[in-house]
Amino acid sequence: MPGVVRFGVSIEEGLIKKFDKYIEQKNYSNRSEAIRDLIRKNLIEEEWAKNGKVACGIVIVYDHHKRELVNKLMDIQHDYSEVIISTQHVHLDHDNCLEIVAAKGNVKKVEQLANKMSSLKGVKHCSAAKTTSGLEL
Ligand code: NI
Repeated sequence: MPGVVRFGVSIEEGLIKKFDKYIEQKNYSNRSEAIRDLIRKNLIEEEWAKNGKVACGIVIVYDHHKRELVNKLMDIQHDYSEVIISTQHVHLDHDNCLEIVAAKGNVKKVEQLANKMSSLKGVKHCSAAKTTSGLEL
């Protein structure tokens, strides 16, 4: 493979056993791919710390019968329109709504947005998947 560098790694037996178990649980086909992902994960965290930019998918589930909650979610999203790229709303069933908010920008702002939505009474679950803006990798 062009552009690929091979290198040897010395590692304690106990640690590699744990790592192999981790690899199996995460469904990696080999150690190389798992190591590449761990390196990327750390570089992405470095990127957040360095330039403060992040891309993020925030997923929330809530009961839309709680009208006050629906209004509050709307108010928060308007307050953070500078980092929100899109919002997708899915009616999960008679009671529950799923919202997928795509955000990009300052990591602290994006975290604030996720935290504000997450802490609202009536939000059943909120999960924020932060990732790279893609520019540094
Ligand atoms: Ni709905």
